[in-house]
Amino acid sequence: MTTLWPTSYYTSEEHLALEQERIFERSWICAARSSDIAAPGSFVRVGVGRESVLLVRKKDGDVRALINLCRHRGAQLCLEDGGTFKNSIRCPYHGWTFNLDGHLVGAPFLHELPPETKERHLFTARAEEWLGYVWVNLDPTAPPLAEQVGPLLRKRFGDEDVPGNYGCDELRVAKEVTHEVRANWKILYENFCECYHCPTMHPEICQILPSWRTGYGTVSGPEGPKQDGSPLADGATGFSLSGKAAAPRLPGVPEKDARTFHGILLWPNVHLMFIPDHVMCMRFEPLGPERTRVVTQWLFHPDAISTPGFSPDDAAALVEVTAMEDFEACERVQAAAHSAYFEEFHTPHESLILEFRSWVHQILYPEAEGRAKETM
Ligand code: FES
Ligand code: FE
Repeated sequence: MTTLWPTSYYTSEEHLALEQERIFERSWICAARSSDIAAPGSFVRVGVGRESVLLVRKKDGDVRALINLCRHRGAQLCLEDGGTFKNSIRCPYHGWTFNLDGHLVGAPFLHELPPETKERHLFTARAEEWLGYVWVNLDPTAPPLAEQVGPLLRKRFGDEDVPGNYGCDELRVAKEVTHEVRANWKILYENFCECYHCPTMHPEICQILPSWRTGYGTVSGPEGPKQDGSPLADGATGFSLSGKAAAPRLPGVPEKDARTFHGILLWPNVHLMFIPDHVMCMRFEPLGPERTRVVTQWLFHPDAISTPGFSPDDAAALVEVTAMEDFEACERVQAAAHSAYFEEFHTPHESLILEFRSWVHQILYPEAEGRAKETM
């Protein structure tokens, strides 16, 4: 497996198309917050790979993922970002109607649906809910979400269900910020795979998590990821710009984690941080070979949010100031990726990047990986 990538991996439309096809359209992608479609009939429109997908809450409480494309002449069914379908989805072009399972139930002037239309149901994708998010997979043959994230969770947290301790599906979005960064999604993702840059670039976060001054964060360490997380600085009560907690500790967080920061990257598109009083979720979506959307959500307990005087801003400010430093660095790398001299070097602090690259490469070029193993 090559660990140094050609610059086309960061700049070419063709390479991004391959990544969309083989990674984003065949993996489980964290696509939306479950509470965005809490009520029966409510929906959001999301992008998964190059496809437009409608995530709809059915009356039985399940989520249905429908490809946003009419089975008559192919028009997009829905241009809104979200809303509520009463009992059905009606195509605005000729009026074909589908129920919330995606089954064709009516077509104007065809009182009896002719036999050849019987199978013209909407195409569907798979959907699962976990951590209060809807995860989508366009590949009908892919293994369940647990098989994609399980090995990453075990490697990072051992047998402990750290995400479970924070009760993520109960939490509410207290703040959301979206950025568009002029950098390839992998440059951004790899930035979060290492903390070698933390002592140089992130004085604010090193103040709250002093162990990061070593150049190792929670996702990387001299002997691998730190299963016990990173301790908050003496005197700090929370992970925020001021060092103060924004809310009481979440109910399920054990005493041993009362002053601990945990983080994990669930590739291909999620970065999660677990802090005693809240959870932060950062999602990455490629918009082009050199442009990525980053959506960050801060999740707090509903009781904290409804407490008079509560504000997520201090907690969000620490991540935001750090993220802006990260994004600027990523844009510097992206700009240099066009140079004929562009070449990388990885220190031991950056070993997680190599694991991420190995995962990406194995998916993009399984044939090459097979050959490499045979010759080992
Ligand atoms: Fe949808 Fe004709 S394209 S009803
Ligand atoms: Fe950083």
